[in-house]
Amino acid sequence: MTIACVVGARPNFMKMGPIVQALHSRDLETSFVHTGQHYDSNMSQVFVEELGLPAPDVNLGVGSGSHAAQTAAIMIGLEQLWLHERPRLVIVAGDINSTMAAALVAAKLSIPIAHVEAGLRSFDRTMPEEINRIVTDTLSDLLFTSEDASTRQLLAEGIARDKIHFVGNCMIDSLERQLPAALAAEPWRRFRCEPARYGLVTLHRPANVDDAAAFARTLEMLGEIARHLPLIFPVHPRTRARLADREIPNVALVDPQPYLTFLGLMARAAVVLTDSGGVQDETTALGVPCVTMRDNTERPITVTLGTNVLAGTKPDRVRDVVLEQLERPARRREVPPLWDGSAAHRIVDVVMRWLPDH
Ligand code: UD1
Repeated sequence: MTIACVVGARPNFMKMGPIVQALHSRDLETSFVHTGQHYDSNMSQVFVEELGLPAPDVNLGVGSGSHAAQTAAIMIGLEQLWLHERPRLVIVAGDINSTMAAALVAAKLSIPIAHVEAGLRSFDRTMPEEINRIVTDTLSDLLFTSEDASTRQLLAEGIARDKIHFVGNCMIDSLERQLPAALAAEPWRRFRCEPARYGLVTLHRPANVDDAAAFARTLEMLGEIARHLPLIFPVHPRTRARLADREIPNVALVDPQPYLTFLGLMARAAVVLTDSGGVQDETTALGVPCVTMRDNTERPITVTLGTNVLAGTKPDRVRDVVLEQLERPARRREVPPLWDGSAAHRIVDVVMRWLPDH
């Protein structure tokens, strides 16, 4: 009987990688399942390689589709697999469609579920991720939280205290491990930039990129920032589809970058502009100023303790906030509790105590 570890899209790899390795270090047998939600080599394979992960035991190859089509394809594939395999525990991470689909299938097969990064809430149900978080947490037997607000939120939602375990942030386990190699490669040189003299941009949320007129204004705004600071913008496939072959002076519009390159770029950026979830956590751990182009965040500790500033989605305001960050003296770095590189081992400690009784 194995422990199934499910990944599907880019942000899952840095969270699940340390867990798979920690399980192996305690001689626990895993079944490493990739749903195939992300399938481009630079959104998937390259992360498996760079994080030193074993090749997935199974790749369902579901690919893209509407939310219902993608979620359903993942559920059908996982049900077939787990009817035969019957893992003793399913571990899922984050808030993507693969996370929720795996939780639904496991729950209906009466297989216990562990959710890594439980209890994050943006309180914005227009975000597909918020639905995924709520469903996954409701169904989970072990809920691993990365910040105190998440623990309190789960308790407020009526989840039993003994299911909730504050373990820290697994994504930061990967960051701690890989940062020296990421910096040694000096990836900014490839973009003809100098440390602390460039900005890094990632934008891929439907709310920011799907409306053509609003996205055009956002691109203009990047051009305005780039008059002050060169920008490096690794473009997610969803965003690339809206960008076509447009060019912006002083903005390097490049393909999605491998983990080590992106981490190195992030660590030496003067400022990071993003709508990603994970990047808010990573910049806080690195002490690098982060401007988030959203009205809300499910990661409040990145604002209260970390370096994150919520700028909303209006381009003029976002530009002003980014430029303000460049003027301000560097903020003191305060890393949130238990974001220390050992979260995965804490998770495996809990799993090993829990499994014999379930
Ligand atoms: C998904 C997650 C999001 C996460 C993001 C990280 C959900 C609901 N969303 O969003 O939370 O922040 O991953 O990247 O699960 N595509 C490719 N190649 C790929 C993958 C996607 O070209 O390898 C394109 C396809 O056109 C696809 C689109 O990107 O339709 C969106 O992919 P999808 O997996 O639906 O969601 P993401 O926007 O990547």
